[in-house]
Amino acid sequence: MPKILILNGPNLNLLGTREPETYGRETLSDIEQKCRLHGEAIGFEIDFRQSNSEGKLVDWIQLAGDVSDGIIINPAAYTHTSVAIMDALKQFKNPIIEIHISNIFSREPFRRHSYISPVASGVISGFGAYGYSVALDAISQLVCDKEEN
Ligand code: DQA
Repeated sequence: MPKILILNGPNLNLLGTREPETYGRETLSDIEQKCRLHGEAIGFEIDFRQSNSEGKLVDWIQLAGDVSDGIIINPAAYTHTSVAIMDALKQFKNPIIEIHISNIFSREPFRRHSYISPVASGVISGFGAYGYSVALDAISQLVCDKEEN
């Protein structure tokens, strides 16, 4: 069964109570459960993680090189700052989807720039927690396309 690593960056552990008008009321564990169920339905094994630490996210991306068929990443604030996460993702040879709960293009100007987008296969932004299911469908398509070629 193909494996998808879903990574979540800083402050996403606070979903549910953090700025609910922007990020909604679902907690990260609600999102994790939905990803697991959706993963099961489409035949993908899900490894779901969150860290507030940039280095930990880099370590997980490096380790994924040997075991994961795709990465879905919500880098949170590191989206706008992290050359280290971008460089780590550059070494990952399978599909990568960048996801944001909010529409980063309709918010403050500093959120419009992403270090991650240039190394991602695609970006999903602004669909709330539902975006994680959209990302899973999208990455399953990319992983299947890759297997066929
Ligand atoms: C976010 C958007 C980022 O700008 C912000 O720093 C986050 C969450 C999102 O999911 O909408 O922490 O990645």
